[in-house]
Parts: sequence; structure tokens; C-alpha cells
Amino acid sequence: MNYRTLGRTGWKISEISFGAWAIGGAWGNVDDRESLAALHAALDGGVNFFDTADVYGDGHSERLLAKLKQQRKEKFYIATKAGRRLPVQTVTGYNRKNLTAWVNRSLKNLNTDTIDLLQLHCPHPEVFYRPEVFGILDDLVKAGKLRHYGVSVEKVEEALKAIEYPNVQSVQIIFNIFRQRPAELLFAEAQRRKVGILARVPLASGLLSGKISRASRFAKDDHRNFNRHGQAFDRGETFSGVDFEPGLRAVGQLKKLVPPGASLAQMALRWILESPAVTCAIPGAKRPAQVAENVAASDLKPLSTATMKQINGLYARQIKPLVHQYW
Ligand SMILES: NC(=O)c1ccc[n+]([C@@H]2O[C@H](COP(=O)([O-])OP(=O)(O)OC[C@H]3O[C@@H](n4cnc5c(N)ncnc54)[C@H](OP(=O)(O)O)[C@@H]3O)[C@@H](O)[C@H]2O)c1
Repeated sequence: MNYRTLGRTGWKISEISFGAWAIGGAWGNVDDRESLAALHAALDGGVNFFDTADVYGDGHSERLLAKLKQQRKEKFYIATKAGRRLPVQTVTGYNRKNLTAWVNRSLKNLNTDTIDLLQLHCPHPEVFYRPEVFGILDDLVKAGKLRHYGVSVEKVEEALKAIEYPNVQSVQIIFNIFRQRPAELLFAEAQRRKVGILARVPLASGLLSGKISRASRFAKDDHRNFNRHGQAFDRGETFSGVDFEPGLRAVGQLKKLVPPGASLAQMALRWILESPAVTCAIPGAKRPAQVAENVAASDLKPLSTATMKQINGLYARQIKPLVHQYW
């Protein structure tokens, strides 16, 4: 496992880290024993950074991470998020009372006195134009409740605004073979300001693992069923916002580009790691075998220039016209 520095925190974090949404909920049935085994497998593979949120399984994901902390001695970082407990996203919802209450709840779930990294969880875009919200986060750092804070965003423009605030250490954004716009402008700007990039949805919700087909069916409580068209939250969070048919066609072609000895999921993760602005990818996983496969991507050879060119050409021809303008 290779490690990269996160923002100005001085933390060296694993370039393949762990996304803990699926083990909390909204991805069909999960089994806590398997989920914990997956978390242990991540630590065994050198992962030292875990991304969660207060709303994943209404705190269940955070509580599983607290359990992991109890069971293991090694130091690891937990990034959580706040803001999605609001019934409707409003700017006024990001006030001192709410932010403090959400943080206190996460501290309890995580069984800790200080949160390593708190991220605003895809708030209303206007929040990024309100310095007072970031002032509240500064106060929570001063009070010792947070070590650092960052943001999770939907759009590149929100990220560009957020990183104007001097204490934002990280931006979490969708970045994968099917979502390439962040590399155009945001990455250079984030590097210039020494802001970390957490690449979320790196496998396009599993589509870029190559195992999903036209015959795949998803449970009622799996967002790949209930949010296919953005009915519950931003449609870009499900399959990266790419419609199933064109997505599957592109995946069929990507399969032909996979280097010997690697899997499609690993090629997708390696593609992300080729961007030096990226601090880490945070693939979600529910089972130890998925974790082992994902973690191993860090030790594979970089993709050849020819492969990178073919992947990016495929994006430009088949996916870019469908999604590039949205996020
Ligand atoms: N708004 C936000 O801030 C936000 C939104 C979305 C995600 N996130 C964060 O980003 C993380 C990653 O995104 P994501 O979980 O949505 O999507 P993802 O990482 O693109 O996909 C994860 C899913 O792909 C499947 N998978 C993982 N590894 C695999 C492998 N090696 N082979 C085959 N299938 C594999 C698993 O699902 P199955 O086994 O069920 O197929 C897994 O749950 C989340 O866990 C969360 O921490 C944040």
C-alpha cells in the first residue's frame, strides 16, 4: 500500500482507503459480521483511512467503525460527515445549534472525544457562500471536537468555492473513469492550495467492476434500484449518473483494456491513482474479498500511456456527451 499526504494535515493516508456507506445501509442486505470482517481486511491490507457519515444506517456505519477501533490497536483515521440529517437541505439548517448537535452525535457513535475529519455532506450550494458556516467549523476545531474539516460536494463549482476557505483540508467528489470533469480545473487548483481530494464512487457503484449486467437485479432498499433516476438523492451518486445501457456498453469495451493480472475494478482504481492531485480513492465494500481486490490496486504497475489514452478516448466518445455538463 502506498500513502499520500492529505491536504496540510500532515497525515499520510492510504491511497486506497475505505468507503463505509454500504456497510451502513441503502445497498440492500448487509451482515454486520461480514462488514466487520471487511473493515479488518482493510486494516490488514494497509488501509488507514475510513470514510463514513452520520446518516449511513442512521449512525450504524459510524458505530461499526467504533467497534473496529476497539478491536484493533493500530492508528487509523475516520472521516465522517454532517448535514444530511436535515429533512430538507437549506442554508439556514447549517447553523451553530445543528452543527454542534450533529457533531456531538457523531462523537458518541464513534466513541471518541475528537473527530479526525468532519465533512459537510453535500450541503445546499449556497452554504459555500456563507463564511459564517466555516467560522462555526473553526470554532468546533478550537473546542477540540474536530481535528480538521473538509467538504463533500456534487459539483466542481461548489468545490472551487469551498477551497477558498483557508481551513478546508479536503474535498470529496465523484471521480472515476465515467466522471472526469474534476481533473480539468479543480485538481490543479486543489494542488495549488494543498487541499486533499477524496475520490468517491470510484467504481461507479460497482458498474466499473464489470460484474453488473442487464440481468442484474437490486433489492428494494438498494439505491441502485430506488435512486436510478435520482428519486431519493442526486442521481449522480448512483452509477455515477450514467444510464445503465450506455454504461454497460462502455464497460464491455473497458474489459478489453484490462492489463494482464489485473481486474476491471483494479484498472478503474489505478486510473484514479494516476492523478497526483488525488489523495485517495474510497471504494465501498461489503465483503473482505472485495477489499483485498481493491487494496491490491495500489501495488499494481501504473497504467501505460496507451491504456490511459484508450480509456480517456472511450470516455470522450461515449460518456462525456451524456454527463460531463452536469457535475
Ligand atoms: N455524498 C457523499 O458524500 C457520498 C456519496 C456516495 C458515496 N460516498 C462515499 O464514497 C464511498 C464509495 O462510493 P460508493 O460506495 O457509493 O460506490 P463505489 O465505491 O463506486 O462502489 C461500491 C460498491 O461496488 C461493489 N464493489 C466494491 N468492490 C468491488 C470489487 N472489487 N468487485 C466487485 N464489486 C465491488 C460493492 O457493491 P455490491 O457488492 O453490492 O455490488 C460496493 O458496495 C462510499 O462508501 C461513501 O463512503 C459519499
